[in-house]
Amino acid sequence: MRALLTKVEQDSRLDRAGDRLQKVVLGTLRPRRLRDLLHGVTLGHPLHPAMVQVPVGAWISAAVLDLMPGQRRPATVLVGLGTVSALPAAVAGLNDWAALARDQRRVGLVHAAANTVGMAIYAGSLAARLSGRHGMGRALGFLGLSTVSLGAYIGGHLAYKQGAQVNQSVSELHRMTDGWHSLADMATLPQRTLITREVDDDISVILYRHGDEVTVMLERCPHQSGPLGEGDVQEIDGHACVVCPWHGSAFRLNGGEVMQGPSGNDQQILPTRIQNGVLQTRLP
Ligand code: FES
Repeated sequence: MRALLTKVEQDSRLDRAGDRLQKVVLGTLRPRRLRDLLHGVTLGHPLHPAMVQVPVGAWISAAVLDLMPGQRRPATVLVGLGTVSALPAAVAGLNDWAALARDQRRVGLVHAAANTVGMAIYAGSLAARLSGRHGMGRALGFLGLSTVSLGAYIGGHLAYKQGAQVNQSVSELHRMTDGWHSLADMATLPQRTLITREVDDDISVILYRHGDEVTVMLERCPHQSGPLGEGDVQEIDGHACVVCPWHGSAFRLNGGEVMQGPSGNDQQILPTRIQNGVLQTRLP
């Protein structure tokens, strides 16, 4: 299965369908605030994995009830809940998918296809149960659960092997050594300008001075490792934010909260102090 998914990652024949679907998703999910909501910007956490808990929980519970006598009605209610709640979860997933890298989109396409087939089977299961054909409804329920489980496996590969929508910058913290690190002489640090510096020789951070306050933030964008130091500073909802040059995610310079997707994760701010006129930082 792992070898098969590795082949999917590299299969450019999926790109034609993927590119078309991406255009449809980006053209349909507007305005940007809707896309941000679906990415999880409001939560500071990707929304899709949280939303799938409802259909997955409902469908697994329905399968357990299907194995017990006298549970037709609650099982039907749970199959209905799972099928209806899967729709917004799928929309949030498609929204994330449209901002992924090409190899991730290929696997994401197969993940979405498996789950779409699973949802269709569950819709059939619901229709059978509502028309009194409970044996057929149960059989389709188990088939649907097998199909969405396959979809979940592929989704796991996408998230944990390919790193889709996981925080790409936080691993920088694991490489940073303890103690304070000197970054810049305050006397020469310009106001309201993004400056890039390195900690431990290869961990990039950005500095942004505003009066006597200096923000130190990891430079690698949590979305897909874009260089925030090459981004712009823009005011969004009254807050100065750094905007990633790759896909436009924006992070508050005062706090690191994500203000604009496709990142669903906040960016890490590092503690600072000034010692003898020198700005220093350390691990949080
Ligand atoms: S890398 Fe995609 S928004 Fe930064």
